[in-house]
Amino acid sequence: MTKPLAIAIDGPAGAGKSTIARILAKELAFIYVDTGALYRTVGYCALTAGADPSRAEQVAPLLKDLQLELRYVDGVQRVFANGEDVSERIRTPEVSMAASAVSALPEVRAFLLQLQRDTAVSQNVIMDGRDIGTVVLPKAGLKVFLTASPEDRATRRYMELKEKGVATTFEEVLADMIKRDYDDSHREAAPLKPADDAILVDTTGNTLEQSVEVLKKLALEAIG
Ligand code: DC
Repeated sequence: MTKPLAIAIDGPAGAGKSTIARILAKELAFIYVDTGALYRTVGYCALTAGADPSRAEQVAPLLKDLQLELRYVDGVQRVFANGEDVSERIRTPEVSMAASAVSALPEVRAFLLQLQRDTAVSQNVIMDGRDIGTVVLPKAGLKVFLTASPEDRATRRYMELKEKGVATTFEEVLADMIKRDYDDSHREAAPLKPADDAILVDTTGNTLEQSVEVLKKLALEAIG
């Protein structure tokens, strides 16, 4: 059997990683792995346990009782925490901030590392996150670092949240995003940065179709 191919897509929030990766995975018949969902689930569990998501001594003890699982239902990723499907509950602005906070904790990153790697052992994957090309899958066949201007990214995220009926404003989303990007890029543990061999793609001003096309071309070249 030929070795499975991994495509790593990293970049800041709202650059279009998950939307593009999802479409591309469907077209190429790859499994899409959304690693942000795992950090969100840890953040969500910290909040529900009444823990401060930025404090290792409060979050780390919760991990030993946390059974995390990714399941694929009709090709769509669902996240389960101790058997409970939390896929929708982890998409609130509050959980976004908690996810960013717990993601700075080395204990949390170590806890999630093997689970992420395991998904790429026996199948072709497109995995998105912040450290996929640098830490999780350093030997990925293709690494893309996807960015866009903060305003472009906040607009996309604001539209997504509005569609889901989440009460927020554009200014709030932009401020949260700028803070999260700063924190994600300046933490000590696996900060957000392009891998040396990543291809930089800026989606500012692109339609979704244009961005998908750019990545599809790169993916097809990597598949050979
Ligand atoms: O991609 P997202 O917005 O769902 O990610 C939520 C948070 O999780 C994000 O602020 C940073 C963190 N994260 C990370 O540190 N490493 C990853 N591979 C994925 C997400």
